[in-house]
Amino acid sequence: MPVSIVVGAQWGDEGKGKVIDMLAEKAHTIVRYSGGDNAGHTVINPHGHFQLHLIPSGICYPEKTCIIGNGVAINPEVFLKERQMLNDKGISTSNLFISDRAQIVMPYHLTQDKLEEQARQKGEIGTTLRGIGPAFVDKIARMGLRAGELIDEKSLKERLKVVLEYKNKLLTCLYCIEPFSFDEIYAQYSEYGRKIKEHVTEATVILEEALKRGDNILLEGAQGSLLDPDFGTYPYATSSSPLAANACLGSGVGPTAVDEVLGVYKAYCTRVGAGPFPTELFDEMGERIRRIANEYGTTTGRPRRVGWFDAIAARFSCRINGFSGMAITRLDIMDKLPSIKICTGYMLDGKKIDHFPAQATVLNKCRPIYEEMKGWLKPTNEIEDYNELPTEAKAYLDRLEELVCCPVDMVCVGPAREQTIFKKKT
Ligand code: GDP
Ligand code: IMO
Ligand code: MG
Repeated sequence: MPVSIVVGAQWGDEGKGKVIDMLAEKAHTIVRYSGGDNAGHTVINPHGHFQLHLIPSGICYPEKTCIIGNGVAINPEVFLKERQMLNDKGISTSNLFISDRAQIVMPYHLTQDKLEEQARQKGEIGTTLRGIGPAFVDKIARMGLRAGELIDEKSLKERLKVVLEYKNKLLTCLYCIEPFSFDEIYAQYSEYGRKIKEHVTEATVILEEALKRGDNILLEGAQGSLLDPDFGTYPYATSSSPLAANACLGSGVGPTAVDEVLGVYKAYCTRVGAGPFPTELFDEMGERIRRIANEYGTTTGRPRRVGWFDAIAARFSCRINGFSGMAITRLDIMDKLPSIKICTGYMLDGKKIDHFPAQATVLNKCRPIYEEMKGWLKPTNEIEDYNELPTEAKAYLDRLEELVCCPVDMVCVGPAREQTIFKKKT
């Protein structure tokens, strides 16, 4: 700290929610900087069990400031349900802010997401169907509506008229669907605007003041680096950058203020949706890990694809983010495995390679080269001190450090706050 970025280092669902909830204890302000409600961050603490899609995972600390940054696309209906869910569980949202620059997910984005997936035919991405891709496309096309406009009825009316006329032309011609009604969307969205108005603000001012005070700020990523539209397994990617570099852009904090970049990795790998996954397990072992780990999507409930830790992908992720440290989550899931594999290279067309290819078609041809390590076959979920981890577990973590070229700062051995071991003293 003062500014730390927490980034998903694989294909999402690495446990960012848990890590943020844990680190937020020492932070003053927590900012979500990318994605939308395609994200699902699980937070389990003495206040309850929460699935957060839009609201930062620091929300359970009443005295902290939480901000949904300009880099996020917000579906107001989802936001309002999430706020209600938190309030019903006694969690205050009075220190929750939304950047007036954040994009708004509109009803036609949801329709478009579905229609575009159908249009991709066999190449479908397996999106979360939350309209996030189309919302970010409209942002760049300068056809998006922002939170600041949503709370200003006059601006909303003027922009929505123009934007909807264009979207209706496009969607009715391209997909032969019924046009969207301006009156219905305007009535619904101006109502949303009234309901979220108290949160919407110029967030960079709050952040500037926080920085001046020397407050600790946590920038919370969504998705995972291997879903990045530039560096991920394109086109099987998401539409906003999960990378550390985008944390600055999606929050309004300049890069000179950043001290630490923590990459969150699972002790193995998972992926939901389509796209290359070199270490994916299709055998009994994959089933076993999915079952022990209950690997089902937080947002869509889909079974997650499961595989061994891919150190080639992990080192790539570390390189493009500049991680200063790693958090390894779900180490406890490996407790019952007699042996554990790590991918240390790929075989591609009969040759060994040790980099992560850019093309999805090439990655699909890569076959993992594994190194096998002995499992520890002991429970780790109650261990609090790094030195008390079984020797084989420490050997596994040491090997990950070596292969990824990054120190392990933190190890998670369960979903609860107390099931966290700090290697580097904070
Ligand atoms: P996120 O999207 O990166 O926040 O991750 P998700 O919440 O979608 O998925 C991570 C899952 O792992 C959640 O169910 C967490 O409660 C759980 N979790 C996080 N850390 C650990 C851990 O160390 N051990 C176990 N067993 N579960 C964990
Ligand atoms: P968190 O923040 C895992 C995946 C989808 C799909 C691809 C594109 O919980 O880690 P999109 O709806 O973004 O257009 O879908 O990205 N995806 C995620 N996978 N965790 C997520 O978020 C994800 N957000 C998107 O499954 O493959
Ligand atoms: Mg998730």
